[in-house]
Amino acid sequence: MSKRYERLMKCYECFKARVDFTPKTALILGSGLGDYADGIDVRATLDYKDIEGFPVSTAPGHKGRFVFGYVGDVPVVVMQGRVHYYEGYPMEDVVLPVRLMKLMGAEVLFVTNAAGGVNWHFECGDFMLINDQICMAPSPLIGENLDELGPRFPDMSEIYSKKLRDIVKKTARELDIPLREGVYIQLTGPNYESPSEVRMVRTLGADAVGMSTACEAIAANHMGMKIVGISCISNLACGVSNRPLSHAEVQETADRVAPLFKKLITASVQNIAKEI
Ligand code: HPA
Repeated sequence: MSKRYERLMKCYECFKARVDFTPKTALILGSGLGDYADGIDVRATLDYKDIEGFPVSTAPGHKGRFVFGYVGDVPVVVMQGRVHYYEGYPMEDVVLPVRLMKLMGAEVLFVTNAAGGVNWHFECGDFMLINDQICMAPSPLIGENLDELGPRFPDMSEIYSKKLRDIVKKTARELDIPLREGVYIQLTGPNYESPSEVRMVRTLGADAVGMSTACEAIAANHMGMKIVGISCISNLACGVSNRPLSHAEVQETADRVAPLFKKLITASVQNIAKEI
């Protein structure tokens, strides 16, 4: 067994020793949605610091624990706080949580984030269903392959499940929540982009830019999870708007639209579980 797999198994054993719960869906929530887990039917929690070898996040607005419980009748595990590459962790640490959630039993990864709007038609506060991605951060699969989890050269032709995207689109229509669709690009951060970089990523085909998610989706796809992702356009990316960016603005928008975002997530999680 490789050292990397051994470490992951150690984390899994910590989970097994403390929590008796099998999630079907894993949720990773971005800025503004940190309190989503407080609103579910909570059955157990597990602090990251209590898991041997688990990376602990330092980002403002991010708590650090797994919350286990039910969204309707769907058993879920929610990450309250994620680990970002810009915090200085190796990619292996950044994706360890998503790997662990797969081992816990999750088949679906539901991921959300706050992102800058690159598409000229987007407005602050929009939601964007991610239909594909560009990962400009290093691949989390670099290094010895974890053969126990997935293949050395995994296919990435449909990272975000078409079937799940259709379910989320239908759910949004039923709730009368406008939903954009587009390509998410992950840059390393932590700096926001320059106007020229935003022009570059638009030319590359991105509709929204952020500092997370794509690497997590690669690791999840490697393991064969079904993935769905929604970005909250918390600001217009640099150069799209001529105002300087601040984390406060990102947080303020994310907080403002959080109630609607939560409604969409809650209904989508349940509709997805019904169909898979
Ligand atoms: N750029 C990168 N990451 C982000 C942004 C942005 O404009 N907004 C929220 N996360």
